[in-house]
Amino acid sequence: MFTKQRIIKTVKTVLPKPVIEAIRSRRTPSRNNLVAWDGTSVQSDAEQFRSSRIVADQIDGMLSPFSMAAMDSLLSLQATNPEIYGNIVEFGTYKGRSAAIIAPRVRPSEKFVLVDVADYLQVEKIRAINAGMEFILCRSEEFRSRYPDYKQLRKNCRFIHVDSSHAYRTTFEEIKMCNELLSPGGIAVFDDYTNLNYSQVLPAIYKYIYTANPDLAVFMVTDIKAYVCRKKYLNYYLSFILQGAVPSMAARGIEDAMISRTDWDREYRAIYLRTRSAGETGSYYGEEIYGRFYEGP
Ligand SMILES: C[S@@+](CC[C@H](N)C(=O)[O-])C[C@H]1O[C@@H](n2cnc3c(N)ncnc32)[C@H](O)[C@@H]1O
Repeated sequence: MFTKQRIIKTVKTVLPKPVIEAIRSRRTPSRNNLVAWDGTSVQSDAEQFRSSRIVADQIDGMLSPFSMAAMDSLLSLQATNPEIYGNIVEFGTYKGRSAAIIAPRVRPSEKFVLVDVADYLQVEKIRAINAGMEFILCRSEEFRSRYPDYKQLRKNCRFIHVDSSHAYRTTFEEIKMCNELLSPGGIAVFDDYTNLNYSQVLPAIYKYIYTANPDLAVFMVTDIKAYVCRKKYLNYYLSFILQGAVPSMAARGIEDAMISRTDWDREYRAIYLRTRSAGETGSYYGEEIYGRFYEGP
């Protein structure tokens, strides 16, 4: 037997079982790491979402019904957790379609800061939902120096929607700011992540995550967006995707949502949320082959 295997065998006989279990659960998806999802408010949250959609649908813009439902599901999840706190920022508002979905979820004590390089925003429509909304007319790259209360936002934002130019340098600067601004339980959402007309979004995100070594991880991807959180909350958000994403999407009118996960690695554990393709059934892609990847975060 090789020395390494001999050492592992000896360690296994010496260490108590709970310690071995703990080590194992750090290397594979484990039920032990699953944070239980409380789905009791899913229907009432979805009801509120239907009202926001009516407003969003009246505003010209790019956000799809799928993304509206996915973003709102996560904003609702955050609302049920008193440990998740912070302000809300959007880079790239256009006329305010995505802002109309986010606005009703902003808590009274939180700032709602919208940033755009051009003056397209239908301010009155968003202020009718959130009177305290602040609109900052500048490039997102300049936000740090242009927004007077930037310091107050540091480590103090729970939701950041990035939907501006999608240029490589801009996205790199935006993810860098997300790392400065996100609170421990915060989420950053990057639009056009898988739109290869903007293929530079992918390298900008991953260069930052894997070379600047921030405390960030992609936890969910969709056909258009990447969802990023701090590593401390990775199990929390992955647990929600595994248990709550499909029912939350269904309650918001996306009845054919499913999840897909075909690998699990300490360096990458994201789950793909999408709609079923023709002929597909169930909620898990390739469950008979990849079933173990759906057991835990
Ligand atoms: C795709 S649209 C945003 C769509 C919007 N989120 C929605 O849901 O309809 C992109 C917006 O980003 C703005 N933009 C472009 N470059 C920017 C930059 N460097 N900083 C901030 N905003 C920028 C554009 O003016 C435009 O309004």
